[in-house]
Amino acid sequence: MPGWFISFEGIDGVGKSTQADLLEQHLRDLGHEIVRTFEPGGTELGQEIRHLLLHRKGDVAPRAEALLYAADRAHHVATKVRPALEAGQVVITDRYLDSSVAYQGAGRDLKAQQVRDLSLFATDGLLPNLTILLDLDASAAGLRRNQTGQEPDRLEREKIEFFEAVRQSFLDLAAAEPERFFVVDASQTVEQMQTSIRARVDQLLAQ
Ligand code: TYD
Repeated sequence: MPGWFISFEGIDGVGKSTQADLLEQHLRDLGHEIVRTFEPGGTELGQEIRHLLLHRKGDVAPRAEALLYAADRAHHVATKVRPALEAGQVVITDRYLDSSVAYQGAGRDLKAQQVRDLSLFATDGLLPNLTILLDLDASAAGLRRNQTGQEPDRLEREKIEFFEAVRQSFLDLAAAEPERFFVVDASQTVEQMQTSIRARVDQLLAQ
């Protein structure tokens, strides 16, 4: 496909959207056309699914939760991500299928491989060219989340052990696919992280 697909991943509170904003600006300055998006909820249908996932009261069965994220992703890829890539644009998404593997797989006792296969079915096999994993320990990320002053959503209220398991799962995914992943130490300053992200992205886009 002519375009370029970049995903940002990491546990809640690591600063993904700040880094994605800065990378978007950098790539625009270089003259690239950017589609900036996110999961869950990057489309109109996705907004409804996002609401079900994050704000509905009451439990969601683990397989139902995995399927809702997959449904959001399927629609997102079909209607927004693929068309942009086919038009030669750079798509930057805040979260993609690795979030499902890490959160639904590690955190919720479903098998990581099953969750990945479900997402690959949903997206017809579309993987990012580059996945930027912002890595931070769960207690530091929890502190950052609390500083925003926003009401925590359902998943953000999960215990610290849950986020540690999710973090470990992201690191395992990165180790398994070192060409796709770029792991950034998110205890660094915003500027330090962005400098290393830009260096990596510039290097890959120049190839
Ligand atoms: P996000 O939009 O990043 O949260 P916020 O807007 O609060 O920064 O993601 C919402 C939550 O959904 C987050 O806790 C991670 C979770 N999630 C999954 O569990 N599986 C998935 O496949 C995705 C995309 C997100």
